[in-house]
Amino acid sequence: MGYQGHFRVWRGSAEGGGLEDFTVEVNEGEVVLDVIHRLQATQAPDLAVRWNCKAGKCGSCSAEINGRPRLLCMTRMSVFAEGETVTVTPMRTFPVIRDLVTDVSYNYRKAREVPAFRPPAGVAPGEYRMQQVDVQRSQEFRKCIECFLCNDTCHVIRDHEENKEAFAGPRFLMRVAELEMHPLDSADRVGQAQSEHGLGLCNITKCCTEVCPEHIKITDNALIPMKERVADRRYDPVVWLGNKLFRR
Ligand code: SF4
Ligand code: F3S
Ligand code: FES
Repeated sequence: MGYQGHFRVWRGSAEGGGLEDFTVEVNEGEVVLDVIHRLQATQAPDLAVRWNCKAGKCGSCSAEINGRPRLLCMTRMSVFAEGETVTVTPMRTFPVIRDLVTDVSYNYRKAREVPAFRPPAGVAPGEYRMQQVDVQRSQEFRKCIECFLCNDTCHVIRDHEENKEAFAGPRFLMRVAELEMHPLDSADRVGQAQSEHGLGLCNITKCCTEVCPEHIKITDNALIPMKERVADRRYDPVVWLGNKLFRR
């Protein structure tokens, strides 16, 4: 049975804006994106929202629902009580373009800062050989849909614009970890993670892991292992001596 739901949606642009109240029909089995689409169709044709697959796979419809980073297309209306007001706002960490659409170019900039896979010298494409057991650990990270909800929620950049230069965010530190765990990658990912991608700024609050719609264990399986590798390097006396003698 359908009902009339109460919604509070942020409307505005980079210049400013605010929350607007709407009453919209909600039907059984719907997700928040369905209601946003009905709102566009019936009351607010110029409401801006980014989406594509409506299947939780393109990572486009990221926003905040009742203050929590969520995919609009994967949040069922059945998790809210019928009389509850559902508040939908744009991701807070990224600048607003219009309404629910944010400028996520920070993430693309950070993506470009991660050097590409570097195969060992003398091995040409087609000659790569790996055992399944060697790729298993990093395979989990390939599930990432680049929704950037983890970067949106991480307090290091959520409330600190000034950290954005120094911090790659969980999504791209995870990408660095993926390359570090790649059996054929020959670049120095551990040193880069710490000195260039801001790994030290992460204090393992695990909020990124909590919001990941792909349920990737970002903190436990990517960030902590990278921190352990940094610590091993720092405190292993042989490595310490090697760094002193052969510092690049
Ligand atoms: Fe989204 Fe998870 Fe990828 Fe972060 S790691 S961008 S939360 S899918
Ligand atoms: Fe941020 Fe995740 Fe670390 S939320 S502080 S990157 S554990
Ligand atoms: Fe693709 Fe929501 S529309 S993830």
